[in-house]
Amino acid sequence: MTTNLAGIQLRNPLVAASGTCGYVGELANVLDLSTLGAAVTKSITRQPREGNPPWRIIDVPRAPAMLNAIGLANVGLDQFLGEKLPALQRIGTVVIGSIAGNSIDEYVEIAAAFDQSGQLPAVELNVSCPNTADGLQFGEHPRKLAELLARVRPAITRAKMIVKLSPNVADIVSMARSAIDAGADAITLINTMPALAIDVETRAPRLSRGAGGLSGPAIHPIAVRMVHEVYRSVAKDAGVPIIGLGGVMTWQDAAELILAGSTAVGMGTALFVDPTSPRAVGRGLEKWVARQGCSSVGDLIGQARIP
Ligand SMILES: Cc1cc2nc3c(=O)[nH]c(=O)nc-3n(C[C@H](O)[C@H](O)[C@H](O)COP(=O)(O)O)c2cc1C
Repeated sequence: MTTNLAGIQLRNPLVAASGTCGYVGELANVLDLSTLGAAVTKSITRQPREGNPPWRIIDVPRAPAMLNAIGLANVGLDQFLGEKLPALQRIGTVVIGSIAGNSIDEYVEIAAAFDQSGQLPAVELNVSCPNTADGLQFGEHPRKLAELLARVRPAITRAKMIVKLSPNVADIVSMARSAIDAGADAITLINTMPALAIDVETRAPRLSRGAGGLSGPAIHPIAVRMVHEVYRSVAKDAGVPIIGLGGVMTWQDAAELILAGSTAVGMGTALFVDPTSPRAVGRGLEKWVARQGCSSVGDLIGQARIP
């Protein structure tokens, strides 16, 4: 089950997704972290953020899915470096630091600080954030993404740079190509899908902010399709690994993403349903690899039989 993610050795391919395991330490209270290959922190911004008022997470049972508009609530860079990061030194899994920002300068500053900490083998850029300069999301325009990464790449000298893409684009391959051309060491696919739920009695949005991000089983087939397209069109030849995620609840969901081209598989919403679920997913994957007659999970990456 050992997995090589851009030169980082993971115990297995399972990764706790950003924003769904706090600053990682919280998850250690309920799950033996040696069950995971890695865990990604909540996205960190320069300043602390309260986030949106409730409701900011709701269930969408008929989808089935979850809708959230947390508003990037987090402690901010200084408190993360001063309090959260030191507590992660012997946490028992690889920790990846996630970065969010509303300007290129903010991403650069946090990326440099994460890199210089020497404690995070990889940083993941959450590019599903609007740039206050023009209101456009970095992750929805290949040129804006290229501009961002051209500035961030030189600020990261030790850690690996992972770029997490939004599914809210017409052409995911162009976005991935833009990230890879700009020096991404790995690509994460996918972030949540913009969506809206309305309370039919009050006629108001069910989330305080209005729209939010859809996650969970409803988005799984979208993730599988995007991983497959990116792997086949650009990532495989470039030798850039993909962390595939979106609606992974069972080992079969994880296996599908591996066959589509994922080197590692993220779990987010599943941790809200059952924070111990990576255990069963890991065990199921291990048996599946053996049943497929393979000696390593890596032998099955991108091995879907798709004409
Ligand atoms: C409550 C919640 C908070 C999230 N916060 C972040 C975040 O801070 N940064 C980020 O990159 N992704 C964030 N995500 C997106 C997840 O990491 C993941 O990409 C998405 O939920 C799809 O995976 P899933 O269907 O397994 O949840 C969040 C998702 C949820 C449900």
